[in-house]
Amino acid sequence: MKLGVNIDHIAVLREAREINDPNILDSLPPCKIAGADQITIHLREDRRHIKDKDVLDILAHTNLPINLECSLDKDILKFVATHKPHIATLVPENRAEVTTEGGLDIKALQKGIKEAKVLFDKNDIALSVFIDPNTDMIDIVQSLGISNIELHTGRYANIYAMLYGGLANSSHSIASLELPRERLKKLLDRSLKDITASVHLAKFYGMHIAVGHGLNYQNIINILKIKDIDELNIGQSIVARSVFVGLQTAIKQMKDIISKEKI
Ligand code: PXP
Repeated sequence: MKLGVNIDHIAVLREAREINDPNILDSLPPCKIAGADQITIHLREDRRHIKDKDVLDILAHTNLPINLECSLDKDILKFVATHKPHIATLVPENRAEVTTEGGLDIKALQKGIKEAKVLFDKNDIALSVFIDPNTDMIDIVQSLGISNIELHTGRYANIYAMLYGGLANSSHSIASLELPRERLKKLLDRSLKDITASVHLAKFYGMHIAVGHGLNYQNIINILKIKDIDELNIGQSIVARSVFVGLQTAIKQMKDIISKEKI
């Protein structure tokens, strides 16, 4: 199972001071040494963390594959097509959100997605779509001739954090998930079943299956029990741990869990 390390959060820290510290390029050797299989970055329309120049620099300074997350904005798509990451993952964007909150509305966005596919096919860039774990979505992805998906694990991660991660007692408690524990446990089970069913259908269609968002050193265990996931994209938890142990160790610890727990 491949691990894509999302390094957006290093740019988040840099932008807090608007100086080049930490230098995002310094994260590339530790990623490589620790065994990251891919670098994932998100060029947001508002350029709140990763900037255009970061994309060019990162592409030039590593031989790891680059997974560039982007919206369907025309200028962004043109930028992606020009600079040719190994794979581009289409994600929904909403200016007000702290982070990507849900998957793409594949049904409503079919026209734009088809146009992006034509553009990326022409430029030899693999295309993936970030979608909620829902089998109807997988059917639509299949009908669009797209063979890479990333399943949004954010809902699972939120429920897990409310149940076991101390989120419920924090200032970031999620009001809609302030529910009795038994109810939360059922929701957690439901969310894992949704992910599992989506993985099974995507596997049946022969898709490359990534999952990501909100995954950490604890909640990853349930995800690793699901057969046929090809790739994990993880950012926040790895970069957060790296503050205390260093990036190389933080990635290595995640890799160790993956190799120990994966069935
Ligand atoms: N995958 C996608 C498509 C994302 O948008 C993000 C967040 O940028 C991630 C994975 C990584 O999520 P996290 O930082 O919560 O690990």
